[in-house]
Amino acid sequence: MSDGVKKLRAAVIGLGVGEQHIKGYEQHPSCEVVALCDMDEAKLKEVGTRHPGLRLETDPNTILEDPSIDVVSIATYDDVHYEQIMSALNHGKQVFAEKPLVQTREHAQDIRATLRAHPELRLSSNLILRQSPRFLSVKKLCEEGVLGELIYMEADYESGRLHKITDGWRGKIDGYSGVFGGGVHVIDLLLWITGDDVVEVSAYGNAIASRGSGFQNNDQVVSLLKFKSGLIGKVVVSLGCVSPHFHPMNVFGTKATFRNTRECGLLVTSRDEQDAHERIMAPYPGVPKGVLIPNFIDSILGRAEPLVSEDDIFRAMAVCFAIETSHREGRPVTIQRI
Ligand SMILES: NC(=O)c1ccc[n+]([C@@H]2O[C@H](COP(=O)([O-])OP(=O)(O)OC[C@H]3O[C@@H](n4cnc5c(N)ncnc54)[C@H](O)[C@@H]3O)[C@@H](O)[C@H]2O)c1
Repeated sequence: MSDGVKKLRAAVIGLGVGEQHIKGYEQHPSCEVVALCDMDEAKLKEVGTRHPGLRLETDPNTILEDPSIDVVSIATYDDVHYEQIMSALNHGKQVFAEKPLVQTREHAQDIRATLRAHPELRLSSNLILRQSPRFLSVKKLCEEGVLGELIYMEADYESGRLHKITDGWRGKIDGYSGVFGGGVHVIDLLLWITGDDVVEVSAYGNAIASRGSGFQNNDQVVSLLKFKSGLIGKVVVSLGCVSPHFHPMNVFGTKATFRNTRECGLLVTSRDEQDAHERIMAPYPGVPKGVLIPNFIDSILGRAEPLVSEDDIFRAMAVCFAIETSHREGRPVTIQRI
């Protein structure tokens, strides 16, 4: 492609975090961004000014139905991801979708079936924390056996951005879920680090922090996870906590413990409180939002395995759907693969 053959032509729909996708595409020599879309004309113009020379559209269908566009980023509100992803796939496009992929299990199943019917198409999602140097270092510690056999893992999504559900679009769309929108990041981390499967979840939630705001779902959810191997875990999603945005993580193994702190990771190898812990200075989060995109392009071109595969996305979403059912219905839920 870069050697004289046509480059892949990409477009980005939704220009909040989507603006950061542009750089990801531009970093790949076999890809060029040709169009941007946002239904908000002022936003479209503003972003278009920062990226001159691109076609600007307010109607996503003009992009989704355009046969000259090969790859599309879907970075719109969660409740339109499904229809836009399906339209893109049905028009033969490769799709890089923001998380959460969709909001219902049925929609996820439809997308999976469409992908199975079109093996030439690729789908990935922006589960960005996998590229955080801090979490890459935890995965390595686990793979090298430094932690021993894993006993227990917890990873939390502390949003620290209550205003996003009390004032922004997240509180206004149908079915917004902090588990889908934020929890998916740390659920994906647990699945990716362990290579294990979650088989059952049990979750509780409340909506104390957003009470009176009109937000329709729980803003605080705690989930217990049972893994296939016998490992157990916990995920907290807190949209209302009074604390800056952060992803706490503790991994207990038979030989050592990993803890994520704001300042550094800690490798704890002793039960003696006099002993010092090893500090892991790998940056956290330390990743720009478009960082997965060059690999996505390579995966389309058959030059690399995707860092976030279709199976990874559906595995994480299946756990999210089970957690959402569990805290809403107050019962343990067995994971149904998608
Ligand atoms: N991967 C990450 O770390 C990460 C971070 C932030 C947001 N996100 C996800 O990205 C998506 C967008 O969130 P955001 O924070 O960028 O929101 P945002 O409000 O900053 O930007 C979204 C943009 O999409 C536009 N838009 C919405 N629906 C549209 C439609 N149907 N057609 C055309 N334009 C449309 C809006 O006008 C807006 O400009 C969400 O799904 C969110 O969960 C992911």
